[in-house]
Amino acid sequence: MCGIVGYVGEKKCTPILINGLKNLEYRGYDSAGIAVMEQNHIEVVKEKGRVKNLEDILSSTVLNGTIGIAHTRWATHGKPSKDNSHPHKDNSNTFAVVHNGIIENYKELRMFLEDSNYTFYSQTDTEVIPNLIHYYYSKYDEKTKDNFLKSVIYACNELRGSYAILVLCNDFPNMEIVAKKDSPLVIGKGTNEYYIASDIPAVLNYTKDFYFLDDNNFATIEENEIHFYDSNNIELNKDLKSISWDCTSSSKRGYDDFMIKEIFEQPEAIKRTIINRINLGKICNFSDINLSRKYLSAIDKIYIVACGTAMHAGLVGKYAIEKLAKIPTITEIASEFRYQNPLIDKNTLCIFISQSGETADTIAALKLAKQKNCKTLAITNVIGSSITREADFSIYTEAGPEIAVASTKAYTCQVALLCCFAIYLSEVLKRENTNLLENLKQELLCIPEKIETILKNCDVVEDVANKVYLEKDMFFLGRGIDYTTCLEGSLKLKEISYIHSEAYSAGELKHGPIALIENNITVVGILTDENLIEKSVSNLQEVITRGAKTFVVCNDENVANRFDYSLVIPSTYTYLSPLLSIVPLQLLSYYITKEKGLDVDKPRNLAKSVTVE
Ligand code: G6P
Repeated sequence: MCGIVGYVGEKKCTPILINGLKNLEYRGYDSAGIAVMEQNHIEVVKEKGRVKNLEDILSSTVLNGTIGIAHTRWATHGKPSKDNSHPHKDNSNTFAVVHNGIIENYKELRMFLEDSNYTFYSQTDTEVIPNLIHYYYSKYDEKTKDNFLKSVIYACNELRGSYAILVLCNDFPNMEIVAKKDSPLVIGKGTNEYYIASDIPAVLNYTKDFYFLDDNNFATIEENEIHFYDSNNIELNKDLKSISWDCTSSSKRGYDDFMIKEIFEQPEAIKRTIINRINLGKICNFSDINLSRKYLSAIDKIYIVACGTAMHAGLVGKYAIEKLAKIPTITEIASEFRYQNPLIDKNTLCIFISQSGETADTIAALKLAKQKNCKTLAITNVIGSSITREADFSIYTEAGPEIAVASTKAYTCQVALLCCFAIYLSEVLKRENTNLLENLKQELLCIPEKIETILKNCDVVEDVANKVYLEKDMFFLGRGIDYTTCLEGSLKLKEISYIHSEAYSAGELKHGPIALIENNITVVGILTDENLIEKSVSNLQEVITRGAKTFVVCNDENVANRFDYSLVIPSTYTYLSPLLSIVPLQLLSYYITKEKGLDVDKPRNLAKSVTVE
């Protein structure tokens, strides 16, 4: 979950590394550090806290090196502290390493190394890596690049768990070695220079051309040369791939925070995601996934598997697929799916949703589905991410880089893409009336404009936020598709504002949660499913009777007038309504958090990509 950056080239690397770390702070922000190759010795500077603290120290340190590595940490083994922060060196000060991931067998390795007279100075799992590399390296009489590489390979072959590592060696001041297994790592190519990072946005300012490493791959990187190897030291060929992300998309562009910028980017992001999929008068375009009509006719079940916000998008996907394509669909949390021995076989299509494409549980769940002979389809936002290398097919949301930890535009793009896919399945399998499907496609194309209308009313939501931001608890109530919006809205609120909140299907209220309703508590109601509105209104009436204040999102002034606060949003088909109803809830969480004076983009304890179990 930590962020790593490296540079090999002609420029002074410190500003590049610090800039990269700042772009990566969404991955972790407990401590940060850099190692720079200075005239044949490695200079390490590290500090507890945010990258800014490191930057302050570096402002009074002269580092001229042009090769370096850097790290921003999300603590797993060992509390956040200077000693535990990366880079870590070996006992002889020959190697410096930054690491993202978890070394599961570090205790055994540490004992083994301690028996060989190595001393440890941190509580991290990472510190075994430079020492293990040194252990192998010290066995060679000759200090050659080849022996450096072999030592890294031998050390990595001993590691169990996940890692992306960058390694510097005093003996080879022009070279960096990198390795990866089950943690992301990309290498960007410039002119006579290479940028290494755990995520593309870290270095998007400098290049759009990337090499993507597979698991158990290694690369030796010098200014003008790069070579790739597998874990048997056999050289590999890799193609350079260009990505289409706009380099300004990972900056705030005048907004106060990434989250609000990303909320406002939703109309454009959704447009990009669906525009090439929707063919009016013809079947939707999913020619990039080779699923034949014969195969689709034979599937008797779809599983949608994901974590967090992506799982909430999956709940909307289930609704749309079942209603439009009439295929029974189960949406499951990846960390549950992987340990529940799910009833799946070759007639089950398994869809995995992950913004980052790196979530450890989602990838493990995908591997399980493959073992059980299911076809696997990944929906992700990141080209070349780990999930795309595992899945049979991948389709992309075109959200662009999402930097704020709380996911917003990725969610709506996932929902839009799943709705397109549901329409496509229905078209191929002829499961719904063509007029309805055509109207739905037309309506999907109108969604971006309708979101614009909601965004224009953001001050209404801001006013509500200013009234309720001191709440300790909040409830979100809705039925049917509105309940899925409640789940996502409630997650947004707790993630960033630290207000305890719960989403309940409004019909369940009487079975427990109503006991918690007391004077002046705020209850949010989502009332867009016209078949269920009256029922939900009755449930909201029950909480009003018990003293609650209510904020509702609905399509009708007459309904809105019955509550303390409200926002009327444009109406749409029920299938698509989460694309609109979630927007006020994203704004509500955002404004509440701002009013509380908290860091919206980097909430405590959270990381954007959860690459450990
Ligand atoms: C973390 C993030 C969430 C995200 C979830 C799944 O918890 O904070 O915003 O929804 O991981 O991430 P993924 O990249 O797989 O969509």
